[in-house]
Amino acid sequence: MSYTLHFPDAVPALFGGTLYLRELTEDDVPAWFERASDPESAVLAGDPIPESVEMGFRWLQRHRERFRRQAGIRWAIVPKGSTGSVGTIGLDITSEEKRIAELGIVIGRAHWGKGIGTSAAHLVTGYAFGTLGLAEIQAEVLQRNLASRRVLEKVGFRLLRTILGDPHSDTDFEDCFLFVLSGQNRTPT
Ligand SMILES: CC(C)(COP(=O)(O)OP(=O)(O)OC[C@H]1O[C@@H](n2cnc3c(N)ncnc32)[C@H](O)[C@@H]1OP(=O)(O)O)[C@@H](O)C(=O)NCCC(=O)NCCS
Repeated sequence: MSYTLHFPDAVPALFGGTLYLRELTEDDVPAWFERASDPESAVLAGDPIPESVEMGFRWLQRHRERFRRQAGIRWAIVPKGSTGSVGTIGLDITSEEKRIAELGIVIGRAHWGKGIGTSAAHLVTGYAFGTLGLAEIQAEVLQRNLASRRVLEKVGFRLLRTILGDPHSDTDFEDCFLFVLSGQNRTPT
């Protein structure tokens, strides 16, 4: 039996026990800038540090464009009872044919260690297999990123292999782990 992706027309809101995920808006830009300017967080997430908050509008535009091209979905992570986002989580479609996407997640430092990353990842993986119709989700993390590895393990990802860093690269010199979560035995609804 073969499936195809059921890419949505609009970013779907996803609701969990203590938080919800919604479409990114201009209001998320200041919180994005604060997170993205945190040097430790930026290195762990593999993102460049932005020079100004205005770059956030380009960041937002890039995500909107990727969604329009059905290349990815990025959500704002919002604790229940609040309207402001504390982080973002997203899926980048890496193979439409094989229905594979890569998971990315960043939470603001003030909110680390409260279970937010794990809850958000549960919501997105449930949607990805149950509705979007993905077959597999991958996540690449620096070996030393213990919090991210723990989140992935708690959501059910397994370690597939090590990706060795390139000592001559300015950006990809650290060793990484590739984690995978399979949607096998889960049928799209
Ligand atoms: C990785 C990240 C998304 C995790 O989000 P979070 O909301 O803090 O995660 P949670 O609170 O759901 O869970 C974190 C888990 O990691 C564990 N953890 C945190 N720091 C740790 C450390 N230094 N060593 C070992 N475990 C650690 C926590 O104890 C918790 O596990 P537990 O529930 O079994 O106790 C967040 O830390 C972050 O945004 N980091 C910067 C960007 C980044 O690394 N993104 C991922 C790129 S792949």
